[in-house]
Amino acid sequence: MTENYWGNKTFVVTGGARGQGAAEVNRLLALGSNVIVIDPLAPDSPDWAVDRTKGDRLRMVSGSVADEKTWSETLNGVQAFGAPLAGLVNNAGVTLRKTVTETALPEWENLLSINLTGAYLGIRAVASVMMDGGSIVNVSSTAGLTGYFSAAYTASKWGLRGLTKAAAIELAARKIRVNTVCPGLIDTPMINRPNGGYNLDQARAFFEGNRSMTPLARGADPDEVAGAVVFLLGPDSRFMTATDLVVDGGMIGGGIYCHIGRSVGTVQEAV
Ligand SMILES: NC(=O)c1ccc[n+]([C@@H]2O[C@H](COP(=O)([O-])OP(=O)(O)OC[C@H]3O[C@@H](n4cnc5c(N)ncnc54)[C@H](O)[C@@H]3O)[C@@H](O)[C@H]2O)c1
Repeated sequence: MTENYWGNKTFVVTGGARGQGAAEVNRLLALGSNVIVIDPLAPDSPDWAVDRTKGDRLRMVSGSVADEKTWSETLNGVQAFGAPLAGLVNNAGVTLRKTVTETALPEWENLLSINLTGAYLGIRAVASVMMDGGSIVNVSSTAGLTGYFSAAYTASKWGLRGLTKAAAIELAARKIRVNTVCPGLIDTPMINRPNGGYNLDQARAFFEGNRSMTPLARGADPDEVAGAVVFLLGPDSRFMTATDLVVDGGMIGGGIYCHIGRSVGTVQEAV
């Protein structure tokens, strides 16, 4: 059933130019699907990580998920492909490593508009044209499952999980499923370079801090999240909706006691 599912279907991936989004786009292209990528990244940026040789099945919408115009352009792209819209991945996200009292209102509003409002606009835009039985995946985070000092980012990722459940209830009547993926430490430009107010040293310390709390003791390749996203997009997950799929090397499930176990010599570090 899964084998023939992907051809002649269209999927939309936001933030699909690089990082995890690009890994999802590449998997969908390899499966034979049409893909629309929404991303403001400059077309000539060296960051692009999408397989652009599949040009006839790939369309780019250059814009922000926070802008309603981006979504009308995306729907035009869906129509131009002329294939059923089978899935949406709300993957686009930005980060800001600031606490509540450090965060200025425009920073708060900008982050929420991309990470949370963008997903709401996306679901609202595609819901009426998506095929019955389609699938929506919202990319939250382990920061959406626990407390994290980055105030706006954490609020956005918890909010995505709430939005997911609300949309799942509404769209169940048409068998459209809505789930979140909650990645842990993933080795992408978001965290492996200066970003969100961190310089390179802080970015490295942040990476190492996360790694040390991860039982599998490493950051994941973006494709390791893409596998989970594609699973949720396809028929193998057809009885899953309104839930969170955690892809974090054990950080949320066992990171605290793994860390403690290592510090007292009871638990060995993964090799
Ligand atoms: N890397 C991690 O460790 C990690 C962990 C948990 C969750 N996440 C989440 O995973 C998702 C993907 O992040 P990533 O790690 O691949 O980071 P990334 O920074 O490499 O990729 C993010 C992509 O989103 C795009 N983007 C930024 N603003 C946008 C906007 N307004 N509209 C559309 N696209 C926009 C960027 O251009 C980029 O291509 C994000 O939602 C992020 O919050 C990342």
